[in-house]
Amino acid sequence: MPAISASAPGKIILFGEHAVVYNRPAIAVPVLQVAAKATVVADPLAPPHTVWIDAPVIGLSSALNDLDENHPLRYVISLVMQALGVSEFPSARIKLTSTIPIAAGLGSSSASSVALARAVSEFLGHPLLDDQVNQIAFEVEKIHHVHPSGIDNTVTTYARPVFFIRNRPVEQMEIGAPLTFVIGDTGQGSHTSVVVADVRRNWTLDPKKYDAIFDQIAGCTLQGRQVMKSGSLTELGQWMLLNHELLRKIDVSSTLLDSLVASAVSSGALGAKLSGGGRGGNMIALAPSIDHATEIASTLKNAGAVNTIVTTVPASKR
Ligand code: MEV
Repeated sequence: MPAISASAPGKIILFGEHAVVYNRPAIAVPVLQVAAKATVVADPLAPPHTVWIDAPVIGLSSALNDLDENHPLRYVISLVMQALGVSEFPSARIKLTSTIPIAAGLGSSSASSVALARAVSEFLGHPLLDDQVNQIAFEVEKIHHVHPSGIDNTVTTYARPVFFIRNRPVEQMEIGAPLTFVIGDTGQGSHTSVVVADVRRNWTLDPKKYDAIFDQIAGCTLQGRQVMKSGSLTELGQWMLLNHELLRKIDVSSTLLDSLVASAVSSGALGAKLSGGGRGGNMIALAPSIDHATEIASTLKNAGAVNTIVTTVPASKR
């Protein structure tokens, strides 16, 4: 039996992180330059039902059954088996690799779940539909942080721009003009679960203040959707900057994120903001054109970014 492989891309959030956990809308797009990839190969020489899993990026090499039942990778596999009504896994070796930086706000945990659910279900003979894969990845996100909105698993599963509101069907986006983003990595690892929990604590202490900010962030997201449709890049950049200011107000930015945003703007970016959980991880800058992206990327590196990725969201086909 040949090896079965599946992959899923990274993601950036253009508008609405954190507010989306509180039922406000958000916009995310896939980052196809980085991906998680799962490969499953039968191991007929191993004792029956022996599954070995290697995930070098997290230093994991273990028999599946030796992992805690709540280990995210084991949990993905048991949810797939449950969905397919399969009780025994044939002996196999599973390898999970990823080029998505971990704890960087680029969706590495969601992409790993999606790639693994796809490869395992295909290996078991019944590839799951995207909607089922998305649901499984969402269940697994709940292990990573208690109150995920579901946006990360959704954008990594469907690998297209999404306008997302928690518990609502995902909306397809219309993109009027290609959008080029430069992603700048602070190199400062930040766990979304910790930042989301902090925001929740603060929201509980002062719901009025936080809800008002989430409403303003929702305004940026709605305006962002509008200008993405019309293709007005200058306005899009302005809404991103406002969204960043609002994220600062809920204390999820950091000195380096703020200075990378300022540097991006000084080198000609139309707008910039942190992206994802914040307090570290990545920021994004909207380039006026693909040609200008290299200059913004080198400015970000000089200003302390440890890595940059240039990614373009194509205009919708008419
Ligand atoms: C993380 O990529 C986005 C957050 O809004 C968390 C979530 O939506 O679950 C910070």
